[in-house]
Amino acid sequence: MKKIRLKIDGYNIEAIEGQNLLQAALDAGIYIPHLCYHPDLTPSGSCKLCAVEVEGQSDIVQSCETIVEEGMVVSTKTEEVNKLRMLSLELMLASHPKDCTSCDKYLNCELQALMQYMGVSHSRLRDIEKENTRIAVSDNLIKKEMQRCIQCGRCVKVCEEYRGVKALSINKKNDETYINTIGDKLMIDSDCRFCGACVEVCPTGAIQDMKGIFSKDSPKNMALVPCKNDCPAHTDIP
Ligand code: FES
Repeated sequence: MKKIRLKIDGYNIEAIEGQNLLQAALDAGIYIPHLCYHPDLTPSGSCKLCAVEVEGQSDIVQSCETIVEEGMVVSTKTEEVNKLRMLSLELMLASHPKDCTSCDKYLNCELQALMQYMGVSHSRLRDIEKENTRIAVSDNLIKKEMQRCIQCGRCVKVCEEYRGVKALSINKKNDETYINTIGDKLMIDSDCRFCGACVEVCPTGAIQDMKGIFSKDSPKNMALVPCKNDCPAHTDIP
């Protein structure tokens, strides 16, 4: 495995050839804020939080979408980068509900952790809150509170890339973009196999399991739940 040498925020680090810059930094113990990135999925570059400056490049780049190069010199905390990152977070929070304490993901939410890391105040950012019309629906297995969705796209990607199902998509209606099943079907009527992969990767409280139903130790273990069409999720849980 060929090693690449580069410098991030003044630190000399080694990365693996072909690795993305964000993962290389994280592996070296250098934290770059990120939300849409997941190490098992291809980067989507949607949250814009992992922005960095690379010497010799006029534009700020997303580190999750940038492949490491020998001799690269990277800055993760310049004034411009911080400004852009803050703006991206503001836009994300603009339509996010204020009731974090009543969310089941409270204190276990990646967005909340990131806000604390970036020292962001709820009130200042949520002054620009707009009416939120995203869908909040639940079924027997998966609880969806899509008003908490930040549209990182991890659930869509894991369903397609990791599980090979493609039950979810980024939909559009009346100028609004939102994540739901393809054709806005109920999950039970969609191609969803209830494997719980989307629950695993959701960084916020948007997609959750019903009281630990996907946990191995749960008395409501999936194996006990009847499904339509001999759902492969019952025999094919990774
Ligand atoms: Fe890179 Fe979201 S983590 S754009």
